[in-house]
Amino acid sequence: MKIQPSYDVVVLGSGIAGLSFANYFLSAQQQKSFDKRLSLLVVSKGDANQTNTSWAQGGIAAPIDDNDSVPLHVQDTLNAGVYENDEYITHKIIAQAPFAIQDLISWGATFDKNEEGEFDLGLEGGHSHPRILHHRDATGANIQFALNNQFSKLGGEVKSNFVAIDIQKKDKGFSILFFDRIQQTVHSVFCSQLIMATGGVGQLFEHTTNTVHSNGDGIFLAEQLHAQIRDLSMIQFHPTGLYSEDGRDFLITEALRGAGAVLLNHNHQPFMNNYDERADLAPRDIVARAIWNEMKVAGKNFVWLDATGIDEQQLNNHFSTIISNCIERIGVDPRTNFIPVMPVQHYSCGGIITNEFGESTVPGLFALGECASTGLHGANRLASNSLLEGICMAKFACERITQQGEFQHHPSISETIALPIVYDVDISVVKSILSDAAGVIRKHAEMTEALEKLEDIKAASTTAQFSLAAFENTVSLNLSILLLKDALSKKKSVGVHYIEA
Ligand code: SIN
Repeated sequence: MKIQPSYDVVVLGSGIAGLSFANYFLSAQQQKSFDKRLSLLVVSKGDANQTNTSWAQGGIAAPIDDNDSVPLHVQDTLNAGVYENDEYITHKIIAQAPFAIQDLISWGATFDKNEEGEFDLGLEGGHSHPRILHHRDATGANIQFALNNQFSKLGGEVKSNFVAIDIQKKDKGFSILFFDRIQQTVHSVFCSQLIMATGGVGQLFEHTTNTVHSNGDGIFLAEQLHAQIRDLSMIQFHPTGLYSEDGRDFLITEALRGAGAVLLNHNHQPFMNNYDERADLAPRDIVARAIWNEMKVAGKNFVWLDATGIDEQQLNNHFSTIISNCIERIGVDPRTNFIPVMPVQHYSCGGIITNEFGESTVPGLFALGECASTGLHGANRLASNSLLEGICMAKFACERITQQGEFQHHPSISETIALPIVYDVDISVVKSILSDAAGVIRKHAEMTEALEKLEDIKAASTTAQFSLAAFENTVSLNLSILLLKDALSKKKSVGVHYIEA
């Protein structure tokens, strides 16, 4: 028997989507936009800074240059997304971009400037105009610092290492069961409004740029609440993950190609011109497939990225994270040597369906950031649009809750805690089956076979004693099955979903 604490709003996740929401929400409270003081709990599955936001390198896209415009940025987003995007939402988010950048700066973010004192706007694949604001090649870490800075100024504190393991709809709210990773204890919490900002699904795959916590559990829990999910199979592979023999993944930012780095085959010849007139700066799906093809032709697990033509001072000033990681991880100095790279899972373009305010199909449940599917990304996300989506959607969701949120005082009640049923799953086998079948290039027959194998694994698995690992493995197996079913439901190639006969 335990007493159940009650909050008006609970936020799951402390990356850009979750903490921006919290910052806007606490500011609205201070400005008395609500007629009563509302309680807020922000939890993080790991340490508060262990987010994909912190790891973002390239930057955040915004049409702030005099020669750029909202329509141009929208156009590039639609082109990359193969017009599968929701045009209204795309326009709404991009029009908000300059204000979102101002908010980040007012919270403490700093973006690099050129000698004239103007923002040093970078270029990435699929952008027709330089519009990437960045903080060297560690933009995410700087943004995370600003988010935390503002949150603590507003009196907030993230409850870290608290993992949501079950959510039930209850009265006009949600009853959430948390597992405290450090204390190994279970806690039940009630909230009226629930903000899912739990990130992506990278850990379903063998190689990913995502943190260890990104196994899609927020999407899984929302699906169990019968929230509508779409396009789980629309996985963006980043063309240039660092290839290392020990398999430790690390992102080599696209901004390096924006600054002039060139992909080379095993004869040290540039090859991207053979695939697309935009060459190394074609949209990611095109570059990832070209690399995959070159790897196959050469019988190798990687191609080369040549950054040696970039001015050394520029490399030192802008890409110090890349340089130090390449040296530390594989003993390669990008100033003098080619970097071995391969496509790796990077971003989930699908997720929990939301409207323009971040509301899912379940009343009171919002989804923000990578776990959500707003319609911005269409069939392929444009580089550096995701941090932008996270903060803009957080603002729209906060406005919605401020104006229309229903908050119920929930009396603290005693309640019996029932842990979710979990299974004994060999996750390395599941990852390998999914990665082989649902990678950069897919085949219907292989996906069908993979789905059968995963369903057999599920049918044969026995229940296990509850542990966080068993919970996460159970989630991963179920999501992998959903992902393959979604992929098999798409008969034609579109954007990141590329089917070979
Ligand atoms: C990168 O730095 O290449 C990643 C940027 C993004 O995924 O938006």
